[in-house]
Amino acid sequence: MLPTILCFVGPPGVGKTSIGRSIAESLGREFVKVSLGGVHDEAEIRGHRRTYVGAMPGKIMQGMAQAGTKNPVFMLDEVDKLGSDFRGDPSAALLEALDPEQNFEFTDHYLGEPFDLSDVMFITTANVLHTIPGPLRDRLEIVEYTGYTYEEKFNIAQQYLIDQVREGAGLKKTQFSLTDGALREVIEHYTREAGVRALKREIAKVARKVARQIAEKETKNVKVEKRTVSDYLGPIKVIDTLMELEDQIGLVNGLAWTSTGGEVMHIEAALATGQEGYTITGQLGEVMKESVKAAYTYVRSHAEELGITPQAFKHNHVHIHAPEGAVPKDGPSAGIALTTVITSVFAEKKIKHTVAMTGEVTLRGRVLPIGGLKEKLIAAHRAGVKQAFIPKQNEKDLVDVPEKVKKDITIIPVEHVSEVLDQALIWKK
Ligand SMILES: Nc1ncnc2c1ncn2[C@@H]1O[C@H](COP(=O)(O)OP(=O)(O)O)[C@@H](O)[C@H]1O
Ligand SMILES: [Mg+2]
Repeated sequence: MLPTILCFVGPPGVGKTSIGRSIAESLGREFVKVSLGGVHDEAEIRGHRRTYVGAMPGKIMQGMAQAGTKNPVFMLDEVDKLGSDFRGDPSAALLEALDPEQNFEFTDHYLGEPFDLSDVMFITTANVLHTIPGPLRDRLEIVEYTGYTYEEKFNIAQQYLIDQVREGAGLKKTQFSLTDGALREVIEHYTREAGVRALKREIAKVARKVARQIAEKETKNVKVEKRTVSDYLGPIKVIDTLMELEDQIGLVNGLAWTSTGGEVMHIEAALATGQEGYTITGQLGEVMKESVKAAYTYVRSHAEELGITPQAFKHNHVHIHAPEGAVPKDGPSAGIALTTVITSVFAEKKIKHTVAMTGEVTLRGRVLPIGGLKEKLIAAHRAGVKQAFIPKQNEKDLVDVPEKVKKDITIIPVEHVSEVLDQALIWKK
């Protein structure tokens, strides 16, 4: 078969590297992994010419040497973190190594001899797609990995992680175990992530402390329960309810998608008498600032039907803020949330606090589709959201959303932002 170059895309800790390793194992081939994070220099891929002091072969040939065979499964980790600057473009060199048309005579500058890479199975991984250089992305067969739900994390921990950790700490099954309740406590209150890496780390922390207790002969075996988790891990790190407890004017739950998974993102707005216009704070990116503009104009041009007096805009300055200011936020998907929050402050209507929403919005109020629906809805579920507005065009993506999430959240697909305003705001006095 023509070689395909797989690219596993997903948040950290969802098993991309592990799957690569398993593919190698099941094919009975060697496995090598090279990390491309922070590689700026073409020479790091293709080697330095020998005339340079400290010249070395590039990462590809080093990997081949490590594999010791010409047909390993070769994982190129973090292709999305490739840089490029005056020292050349490493992605161009990488293209040459990956391209089945050219890679039967890949030449490393240090070795100076062509080498046949055509039997290598390349697998690349990335956290996000949009930073992978276009020509490179074109050649990749994208496989998306999504974040795990609580239930999945629970099962992974029970079937794999606890055993791995127990072994790592040199403990026997009889010496260390966690009750279901304790495990759920660790998942819910000590980690917030799409994958299971922090979860494994936290369980390992418990295991190490148990190992010490046993070594010091304090006890012979430990069964960690829900209420004793904090003895090992300290006070809880993640507070559950991300949602405010009551309906408010000028506070809306948006849904964001970051490289670590989905998140519920509060957006606040407040009016102050003063100059017409608005201020935006909270590290919003360019695209999101434009969404604010569009949302503001939408509300302004529909003032009458929304029950807002046109003078309200003249004499009030609106401040829009997305808390957790240190985290940069961008993307167009906050459009309907922004429109809702701006309408809320001008019309002086409360927004239901159990509602969350995601969707891009046009000046005429049409709701456009967004990415990361599954992660966003999982995050909403985690936060206890009861109703979620999503773009009608994303309805097709609901097949990927876990049943439990669909059961607990009333999902409302919308085509026009007025449908959101009708239902998310509390209009009657
Ligand atoms: N589905 C899964 N089943 C068992 N273990 C998993 C699963 N997903 C992730 N893990 C564990 O999580 C850890 C991180 O996985 P890794 O493959 O390094 O993730 P990634 O490369 O996507 O960041 C590993 O210890 C791995 O064993
Ligand atoms: Mg990895």
